[in-house]
Amino acid sequence: TMVKVAILGYGTVGGGVAEILHKNGAHISQRVDNPVEVKYILTRRDYPGDPFEDKIVQDFSIIEHDPEVRVVAECIGGTTVALDYARRALNAGKHVVTSNKELVAAYGYELLQIAKEKGCSFLFEASVGGGIPILRPMSSCLAANELSEIVGILNGTTNYILTRMIRGGLSFDDALKEAQEKGYAEADPTADIEGHDACRKICILAALAFGQHVYPDQVPTQGIRGVTLADVAYADSCGYKIKLLGRAIREGDGKLCAFVAPHLVPASNPLSGVEDVFNAISVTGNAIGDVMFYGRGAGKLPTASAVVADVIDIAKDLKTARCAVWGPGSRDLVVSSDILSSRWYVRGTASMDKVRAAFGEISPLARGGAPAGETAFLTAPMTEPQVRARLEGMELHSLIRVLE
Ligand code: HSE
Repeated sequence: TMVKVAILGYGTVGGGVAEILHKNGAHISQRVDNPVEVKYILTRRDYPGDPFEDKIVQDFSIIEHDPEVRVVAECIGGTTVALDYARRALNAGKHVVTSNKELVAAYGYELLQIAKEKGCSFLFEASVGGGIPILRPMSSCLAANELSEIVGILNGTTNYILTRMIRGGLSFDDALKEAQEKGYAEADPTADIEGHDACRKICILAALAFGQHVYPDQVPTQGIRGVTLADVAYADSCGYKIKLLGRAIREGDGKLCAFVAPHLVPASNPLSGVEDVFNAISVTGNAIGDVMFYGRGAGKLPTASAVVADVIDIAKDLKTARCAVWGPGSRDLVVSSDILSSRWYVRGTASMDKVRAAFGEISPLARGGAPAGETAFLTAPMTEPQVRARLEGMELHSLIRVLE
């Protein structure tokens, strides 16, 4: 039977899904017994002359009430109409796939529950890592492992910006403009810059890996707004790259330490070589050790390719529901990153005598063009409260955790 799909949203991702289903239709049909076809594209605007013009509808209830539509691909984004439509599609017995990390991070548990009740699939491979196969490999190929840690570069826009600052000496704003032009950034790039997008993604990864919903407001999140070219230069001088990392670490007592923050990543860690829009996610399991996933983390066709892969997965067998399973989470599940000891990069204005009195023997870092009185150094391993206590009374410009 022909599997009819409705695409919700005709922006970057929705447009990519339509394009891939159309272009690769013959190829996809060879892989599944049930060929896949777009029946509707839901969008508020008219697209005169568009190749899919005849499929465009503006009223979701047409899709909701059309029994021919078996799969709904939600590519609207956000959590207002996207949530409403995802709920209604599942309640109408349709399988739902989405690229919407905000939706899954906030409402994943609820939507998975509805899907389970209705015997439908709810899949969201594209929500983390764009085109990188990460969620399905993590939950199926690594299923034998107890997973203990996830660390990743989860946002293409900020990684693009940091790379252009490091390699091109571009200003933050020019680099952001380029990322927007390439279709990497969110509609409002604040979510990228401030780390919220990476936060949503680490929530989804943590829920899958550790079996409980992790809510974005439980995860302390710091973006890259405060990272300067001076920090980039100092980091470079001692063999580090500054990267925005999402981290989730299982603690002994069943708790979880999860956070998003810029880090200094040593050249010896493969994450330091992940550049431009690429994402990489390293997962540690007790049987496999470390495994790493790498690829294009944003952009029209990479993201759409993951959405379409979910559609194909469903089309292969419409009767079997595929859903991740995780619990509702709880208020006291996530503990503060304050417990996590690491080295720190410090930049401030203070005399070396004062610094040595507080931190002991440290070697100062150097960069060209540093203003008089500027001091930068790496500390011994300690927690954030400890480093802050020692910095008391010094003029602090940057404090960035070092990834061990
Ligand atoms: N704005 C996101 C990013 C898109 O830059 O990674 C992919 O989720």
